[in-house]
Amino acid sequence: MNNLPEHIAIIMDGNGRWAKQHGFLTRIKGHERGVLALKAAATGAAELGIKYLTVYAFSSENWSRPQAEVNALMRILVKSIKRELKTLMEKNIRLNAIGNLSTLPKDCQDELQEVMNATAGNDHMVLTLALSYGSRQEITQAMQSLALQVANGELKPEDIDQAAISGALHTAEMPDPDLVIRTSGEQRISNFLLWQISYAELVFLNVLWPDFSKEHLEQAIAQFQGRERRIGKTSEQLK
Ligand code: IPE
Ligand code: IPE
Ligand code: MG
Repeated sequence: MNNLPEHIAIIMDGNGRWAKQHGFLTRIKGHERGVLALKAAATGAAELGIKYLTVYAFSSENWSRPQAEVNALMRILVKSIKRELKTLMEKNIRLNAIGNLSTLPKDCQDELQEVMNATAGNDHMVLTLALSYGSRQEITQAMQSLALQVANGELKPEDIDQAAISGALHTAEMPDPDLVIRTSGEQRISNFLLWQISYAELVFLNVLWPDFSKEHLEQAIAQFQGRERRIGKTSEQLK
C-alpha cells in the first residue's frame, strides 16, 4: 500500500454498548473484549507498516465513571500489558504512554514502566496508550512549563512558536496523526489530541470497538487514501 498514514490515532469507543448488546450484565466484558480488538489493531497496523499507533484507552473524564468500572479498567490494563509483552517483542513494537500517568494506581504505573523499558529498543512501530489523558489538560501543562521557562529567563516570549508548543506536549517525540479513527458511530473528539490533529483526516466507523478488526483498519486507511489533503491549497495546485 502506498500513501499510508504514518501515524494513526484511534478513539476506541463502544465497549459498554457491545457488552449490553451481547446480554452481559456489566460493561466489563466489553472492556475485556476491547483488549483483543486492540491486539488485532496493533498487530494489523504493524503488519501494514504503520509507524505510530496511538490509542485512547482512558480519558481524564473517565475517572468520573462508577468506581467499580474504573477499578476493572485498571485491573484489565495491568493484566493486558503484562500478558502482551511477548507479542510486543515478537512484533518489534515499542510501548509508550501519554497522559497524567502519575494519577494511575501504583501497580499500573510500575507495570507500564516495566514494559516500556523492556520494549524501548523495538523500532518497527510505536504503540502509545493514552491513559488518564485529556488534551486540554495536556495543553494547560505545556503552557505552564513554557511560562516557567520564560519566568526563569530560559526562553523569550517571541520564541514560543508552534514547534515550541508541540515540543512541550506529551507527544513531542512523534509526528502529528494523519488519520483519526473513532468507532461506535459517535462523531466527536472527546478531548483527544486537539492540537495534534489540526489537519488529520477523521474517519468515523459504525462498528463497536470490540468488533473492530484488521479489515476495519484497512477500510479506514482506504478512506484516508481517497481523500484530497489540500492543507489550505486549491485542488489545482496539488496536480
Ligand atoms: C470505550 O468504550 C472504552 C473507554 C472509554 C474506557 P465505552 O466504555 O465508552 O463504551 P460505550 O461508549 O459506553 O459503549
Ligand atoms: C472517549 O470515549 C474516551 C476513550 C475512548 C478512552 P468516551 O466514551 O469516554 O467519550 P464520550 O463521553 O462519549 O464523549
Ligand atoms: Mg463511550
